[in-house]
Amino acid sequence: MIQIAVDGPAGSGKSTVAREVAKRLGIVYLDTGAMYRAVTYQTLIEKRSVQNAHDLEIIVEALELEVAPGQIWANGKNVTEAIRQPEISRNVSYVAMDAYVRKCMVDLQRKIAGTQSVIMDGRDIGTHVLPNAKFKFFLTATAEERAKRRQIELDKAGYSVDYKALVDEINERDRLDSEREVSPLKIADDAEIIDTTELTTDQVIDLILKKIAYTN
Ligand code: C5P
Repeated sequence: MIQIAVDGPAGSGKSTVAREVAKRLGIVYLDTGAMYRAVTYQTLIEKRSVQNAHDLEIIVEALELEVAPGQIWANGKNVTEAIRQPEISRNVSYVAMDAYVRKCMVDLQRKIAGTQSVIMDGRDIGTHVLPNAKFKFFLTATAEERAKRRQIELDKAGYSVDYKALVDEINERDRLDSEREVSPLKIADDAEIIDTTELTTDQVIDLILKKIAYTN
Protein backbone atom coordinates (compact mmCIF):
# COMPACT_ATOMS: atom_id res chain seq x y z
CA MET A 1 0.00 0.00 0.00
CA ILE A 2 1.17 3.48 -0.79
CA GLN A 3 0.24 6.77 0.89
CA ILE A 4 0.79 10.11 -0.81
CA ALA A 5 0.12 13.41 0.97
CA VAL A 6 -0.47 16.62 -0.98
CA ASP A 7 -0.85 19.73 1.16
CA GLY A 8 -0.94 23.42 0.43
CA PRO A 9 -3.00 26.59 0.63
CA ALA A 10 -6.30 27.30 -1.15
CA GLY A 11 -6.02 27.32 -4.92
CA SER A 12 -2.49 25.89 -5.11
CA GLY A 13 -3.72 23.24 -7.56
CA LYS A 14 -3.71 20.32 -5.12
CA SER A 15 -7.00 18.73 -6.07
CA THR A 16 -6.56 18.86 -9.85
CA VAL A 17 -3.08 17.42 -9.54
CA ALA A 18 -3.94 14.78 -6.92
CA ARG A 19 -7.00 13.58 -8.88
CA GLU A 20 -4.90 13.04 -12.02
CA VAL A 21 -2.01 11.37 -10.18
CA ALA A 22 -4.54 8.99 -8.58
CA LYS A 23 -5.92 8.12 -12.01
CA ARG A 24 -2.48 7.46 -13.49
CA LEU A 25 -1.41 5.30 -10.54
CA GLY A 26 -4.80 3.56 -10.23
CA ILE A 27 -5.20 4.48 -6.57
CA VAL A 28 -7.90 6.24 -4.57
CA TYR A 29 -8.03 10.04 -4.37
CA LEU A 30 -9.47 11.66 -1.28
CA ASP A 31 -10.25 15.39 -1.22
CA THR A 32 -10.23 16.14 2.53
CA GLY A 33 -11.19 19.79 1.96
CA ALA A 34 -14.51 18.54 0.54
CA MET A 35 -15.20 16.86 3.89
CA TYR A 36 -14.78 20.12 5.85
CA ARG A 37 -16.86 21.85 3.18
CA ALA A 38 -19.66 19.27 3.58
CA VAL A 39 -19.76 19.89 7.35
CA THR A 40 -19.94 23.62 6.61
CA TYR A 41 -22.75 23.09 4.12
CA GLN A 42 -24.78 21.06 6.62
CA THR A 43 -24.19 23.63 9.38
CA LEU A 44 -25.40 26.48 7.19
CA ILE A 45 -28.49 24.72 5.85
CA GLU A 46 -29.48 23.79 9.39
CA LYS A 47 -29.05 27.47 10.30
CA ARG A 48 -26.48 26.77 12.97
CA SER A 49 -23.36 28.79 13.70
CA VAL A 50 -20.00 27.83 12.16
CA GLN A 51 -18.31 29.54 15.10
CA ASN A 52 -20.15 27.69 17.87
CA ALA A 53 -18.53 24.45 19.09
CA HIS A 54 -21.80 23.09 20.48
CA ASP A 55 -23.62 23.66 17.17
CA LEU A 56 -20.80 21.99 15.27
CA GLU A 57 -20.82 18.99 17.58
CA ILE A 58 -24.57 18.51 16.98
CA ILE A 59 -24.06 18.72 13.22
CA VAL A 60 -21.08 16.40 13.04
CA GLU A 61 -22.60 13.81 15.40
CA ALA A 62 -25.64 13.46 13.14
CA LEU A 63 -23.75 13.72 9.86
CA GLU A 64 -23.37 10.70 7.61
CA LEU A 65 -20.57 11.48 5.19
CA GLU A 66 -20.01 9.29 2.18
CA VAL A 67 -17.13 9.81 -0.20
CA ALA A 68 -16.31 8.37 -3.59
CA PRO A 69 -13.75 9.63 -6.12
CA GLY A 70 -14.90 13.12 -7.10
CA GLN A 71 -18.22 12.88 -5.22
CA ILE A 72 -19.43 13.53 -1.70
CA TRP A 73 -22.77 12.96 0.04
CA ALA A 74 -24.01 14.52 3.29
CA ASN A 75 -26.88 12.63 4.91
CA GLY A 76 -27.63 10.91 1.62
CA LYS A 77 -27.68 14.10 -0.46
CA ASN A 78 -25.08 14.58 -3.18
CA VAL A 79 -23.41 17.90 -2.24
CA THR A 80 -20.46 17.73 -4.64
CA GLU A 81 -21.42 20.95 -6.42
CA ALA A 82 -23.14 22.73 -3.54
CA ILE A 83 -19.97 22.72 -1.41
CA ARG A 84 -18.13 24.82 -4.02
CA GLN A 85 -20.41 27.83 -3.49
CA PRO A 86 -18.52 30.98 -2.46
CA GLU A 87 -20.52 31.11 0.79
CA ILE A 88 -19.05 27.75 1.82
CA SER A 89 -15.50 28.92 0.99
CA ARG A 90 -16.02 31.99 3.16
CA ASN A 91 -17.13 29.93 6.17
CA VAL A 92 -15.18 26.67 5.95
CA SER A 93 -12.06 27.82 7.82
CA TYR A 94 -14.13 28.43 10.97
CA VAL A 95 -15.52 24.89 10.85
CA ALA A 96 -12.03 23.52 10.21
CA MET A 97 -10.72 25.20 13.39
CA ASP A 98 -12.95 23.12 15.60
CA ALA A 99 -11.04 20.34 17.38
CA TYR A 100 -13.98 17.92 17.52
CA VAL A 101 -14.83 18.35 13.83
CA ARG A 102 -11.17 17.75 12.98
CA LYS A 103 -10.97 14.63 15.12
CA CYS A 104 -14.03 13.12 13.39
CA MET A 105 -12.74 13.98 9.91
CA VAL A 106 -9.23 12.70 10.61
CA ASP A 107 -10.60 9.39 12.00
CA LEU A 108 -12.54 8.89 8.77
CA GLN A 109 -9.54 9.86 6.61
CA ARG A 110 -7.25 7.41 8.42
CA LYS A 111 -9.86 4.67 8.12
CA ILE A 112 -9.98 5.16 4.35
CA ALA A 113 -6.17 5.19 4.11
CA GLY A 114 -5.88 2.09 6.29
CA THR A 115 -7.32 -0.31 3.75
CA GLN A 116 -6.05 0.87 0.35
CA SER A 117 -3.45 2.96 -1.45
CA VAL A 118 -4.39 6.64 -1.42
CA ILE A 119 -3.40 10.11 -2.44
CA MET A 120 -4.99 12.67 -0.13
CA ASP A 121 -4.98 16.42 -0.42
CA GLY A 122 -5.52 18.92 2.37
CA ARG A 123 -3.70 21.08 4.88
CA ASP A 124 -2.51 18.63 7.55
CA ILE A 125 -2.11 15.35 5.68
CA GLY A 126 1.70 15.15 5.81
CA THR A 127 1.98 16.67 9.28
CA HIS A 128 -0.90 14.97 11.08
CA VAL A 129 -3.26 12.64 9.19
CA LEU A 130 -0.62 10.45 7.52
CA PRO A 131 2.70 11.40 9.16
CA ASN A 132 4.28 8.19 7.81
CA ALA A 133 3.17 8.74 4.21
CA LYS A 134 5.95 7.62 1.86
CA PHE A 135 5.54 10.70 -0.33
CA LYS A 136 4.71 14.21 0.81
CA PHE A 137 4.30 17.21 -1.42
CA PHE A 138 3.53 20.80 -0.49
CA LEU A 139 2.15 22.89 -3.34
CA THR A 140 2.32 26.67 -3.25
CA ALA A 141 1.68 29.60 -5.60
CA THR A 142 1.31 33.34 -5.11
CA ALA A 143 -2.07 34.50 -3.75
CA GLU A 144 -2.65 36.43 -7.00
CA GLU A 145 -2.11 33.33 -9.15
CA ARG A 146 -4.31 31.22 -6.86
CA ALA A 147 -7.10 33.82 -7.01
CA LYS A 148 -6.83 33.85 -10.80
CA ARG A 149 -7.26 30.06 -10.91
CA ARG A 150 -10.21 30.19 -8.51
CA GLN A 151 -11.85 32.87 -10.62
CA ILE A 152 -11.63 30.69 -13.74
CA GLU A 153 -13.01 27.70 -11.81
CA LEU A 154 -15.90 29.72 -10.34
CA ASP A 155 -16.61 31.29 -13.69
CA LYS A 156 -17.00 27.84 -15.24
CA ALA A 157 -19.41 26.89 -12.44
CA GLY A 158 -21.50 30.01 -13.16
CA TYR A 159 -20.39 32.25 -10.27
CA SER A 160 -19.01 35.66 -11.08
CA VAL A 161 -16.78 36.80 -8.23
CA ASP A 162 -14.66 39.95 -8.18
CA TYR A 163 -10.91 39.21 -8.52
CA LYS A 164 -9.87 41.55 -5.73
CA ALA A 165 -12.47 40.01 -3.40
CA LEU A 166 -11.03 36.57 -4.20
CA VAL A 167 -7.45 37.67 -3.40
CA ASP A 168 -8.71 39.01 -0.05
CA GLU A 169 -10.67 35.81 0.68
CA ILE A 170 -7.70 33.60 -0.17
CA ASN A 171 -5.36 35.65 2.02
CA GLU A 172 -7.87 35.52 4.88
CA ARG A 173 -8.34 31.75 4.50
CA ASP A 174 -4.52 31.26 4.47
CA ARG A 175 -4.28 33.32 7.64
CA LEU A 176 -7.04 31.41 9.47
CA ASP A 177 -5.72 28.01 8.29
CA SER A 178 -2.11 28.82 9.26
CA GLU A 179 -2.82 30.46 12.60
CA ARG A 180 -5.33 28.00 14.04
CA GLU A 181 -4.28 25.94 17.07
CA VAL A 182 -5.26 22.47 15.89
CA SER A 183 -3.21 21.07 12.99
CA PRO A 184 -2.50 24.35 11.21
CA LEU A 185 -1.45 24.54 7.58
CA LYS A 186 2.29 23.86 7.84
CA ILE A 187 4.96 22.34 5.65
CA ALA A 188 5.99 18.89 6.89
CA ASP A 189 9.77 18.68 7.48
CA ASP A 190 10.05 15.85 4.98
CA ALA A 191 7.76 17.33 2.30
CA GLU A 192 8.94 18.35 -1.15
CA ILE A 193 7.85 21.92 -1.88
CA ILE A 194 6.59 22.65 -5.39
CA ASP A 195 5.97 26.28 -6.35
CA THR A 196 3.32 25.99 -9.07
CA THR A 197 3.07 29.72 -9.91
CA GLU A 198 4.94 29.34 -13.20
CA LEU A 199 4.06 25.71 -13.89
CA THR A 200 1.23 24.13 -15.85
CA THR A 201 -0.88 21.43 -14.22
CA ASP A 202 0.76 18.82 -16.45
CA GLN A 203 4.23 19.90 -15.37
CA VAL A 204 3.30 19.52 -11.69
CA ILE A 205 1.77 16.08 -12.33
CA ASP A 206 4.94 15.00 -14.17
CA LEU A 207 7.17 16.22 -11.34
CA ILE A 208 5.20 14.19 -8.80
CA LEU A 209 4.99 11.05 -10.96
CA LYS A 210 8.74 11.18 -11.69
CA LYS A 211 9.56 11.53 -8.02
CA ILE A 212 7.37 8.54 -7.17
CA ALA A 213 8.73 6.37 -10.00
CA TYR A 214 12.32 7.29 -9.11
CA THR A 215 11.94 6.53 -5.41
CA ASN A 216 9.68 3.46 -5.62
O1 C5P B 1 -8.96 22.36 -0.11
P1 C5P B 1 -10.12 23.30 0.09
O2 C5P B 1 -9.83 24.71 -0.26
O3 C5P B 1 -11.40 22.78 -0.52
O4 C5P B 1 -10.37 23.25 1.68
C1 C5P B 1 -11.37 24.01 2.29
C2 C5P B 1 -10.97 24.34 3.72
O5 C5P B 1 -11.01 23.16 4.52
C3 C5P B 1 -9.58 24.92 3.94
O6 C5P B 1 -9.54 26.32 3.77
C4 C5P B 1 -9.28 24.54 5.38
O7 C5P B 1 -9.87 25.47 6.26
C5 C5P B 1 -10.03 23.23 5.54
N1 C5P B 1 -9.16 22.04 5.45
C6 C5P B 1 -8.45 21.68 6.57
N2 C5P B 1 -7.72 20.52 6.56
C7 C5P B 1 -7.69 19.74 5.47
C8 C5P B 1 -8.38 20.12 4.30
C9 C5P B 1 -9.10 21.30 4.31
O8 C5P B 1 -8.46 22.38 7.56
N3 C5P B 1 -7.00 18.60 5.51
